Amino acid sequence: MSGDTPEFTDIFTISSAMGCGSSMDSFDEPKTVVVFGATGLLGGSVARALLNDPFKFRVRCVTRRTNSDKARELAELGAVIVNANLDDTKSLEKALANADAMFLTTHFWEEKNKQKEIVQGLNAIDAAVSCGVSHIIFNGSENVKKIIGRDCNHLDSKFSIEEYIREVDTEEGEGGSPAENEEKIVGLNYTILRLPFWYENFYTVFKPYKLKYGVYALALPMEDGILDCMAVEDVGECVYDILCKPKLYYGKTLGLSADRLSMSNIVDIFNKHFDTMKFKDPKIKIRDYENFKFAGSKDLAAMFEFYRDGTSMVRDIKATKKLNSRAKTLDKWMDENKDYIEGAIREDEEDGQT
Ligand SMILES: NC(=O)c1ccc[n+]([C@@H]2O[C@H](COP(=O)([O-])OP(=O)(O)OC[C@H]3O[C@@H](n4cnc5c(N)ncnc54)[C@H](OP(=O)(O)O)[C@@H]3O)[C@@H](O)[C@H]2O)c1
Repeated sequence: MSGDTPEFTDIFTISSAMGCGSSMDSFDEPKTVVVFGATGLLGGSVARALLNDPFKFRVRCVTRRTNSDKARELAELGAVIVNANLDDTKSLEKALANADAMFLTTHFWEEKNKQKEIVQGLNAIDAAVSCGVSHIIFNGSENVKKIIGRDCNHLDSKFSIEEYIREVDTEEGEGGSPAENEEKIVGLNYTILRLPFWYENFYTVFKPYKLKYGVYALALPMEDGILDCMAVEDVGECVYDILCKPKLYYGKTLGLSADRLSMSNIVDIFNKHFDTMKFKDPKIKIRDYENFKFAGSKDLAAMFEFYRDGTSMVRDIKATKKLNSRAKTLDKWMDENKDYIEGAIREDEEDGQT
């Protein structure tokens, strides 16, 4: 598809020309993977990793805005841009027609509506099942409410979608021959990814805030907990690897991480990389954080409580490195990305926010 015309028009013509719809066992021909959230950080990382290998993958990127700059950039990298909305089942079925696999990430923060996120996730799963997509990779979560005893809407929603995927999987598997059920050539195969805190948050939602001239706070209420973390940019390679050897990962739930750090480790790494700025941990308590006056503070406080307690959050650095041997520690990531953090701080200062 030409980079000048990212508008997606005729999915059926294009997909049949691609020869899609085969199982994910071999790479005689490229597999078609539909990537949700491709204009965002997570889906974008997945889309770019797959687009790097056009011999193995054809990538359809889902967006509601086919003419956005991000959509155009993906089209220039070789993606087919698909106009679809998680609220609109028909658009999802068009996007998923004849696809081999789907990477699904759902969204809470735009509308901050747990039920809506669940319905959107179910819409995508139903569409994938009705289109015969053979492998779903989903950005899921633990049942945080059950673990810590209070609502964490943006993670609980993802757990509900995970549960639905497992139910569909069971239904699809029922009645098949043992051989069919073992390999699930027909029916739904899934891989759940549970992600850690990602480093890119340090120049987006959790960018440092100014305490006084030259001194900045890293305001994560982790208390004495250890934070599993990784670069979202490294998740794409993990998904690429899973899609290269899908059968190894059918039915698996994988917790990813590339580093495990206390707040004091994080502060030390920041201070090592910045000469003219000093970083501190303001030691915010979770019970104070949840009363902060911004939308979603309770959900984020619950998320940090879950992170801090740690025991139920299984993230596996060794398994992650097996999927992506180049997955970076925070220290290494900082070598290449500290300019983004500095840029985010400067932007706030120019806006007079800090
Ligand atoms: N682990 C962590 O540290 C961490 C940090 C941040 C986020 N997350 C989670 O990771 C997920 C992805 O976050 P992100 O930061 O990559 O997102 P993002 O950069 O904000 O991008 C949002 C993406 O979702 C798409 N989207 C939103 N609503 C949609 C709809 N109704 N139909 C189709 N597409 C829709 C957008 O597409 P268009 O606008 O182009 O249509 C865009 O591609 C979210 O679930 C978020 O909660 C985790």
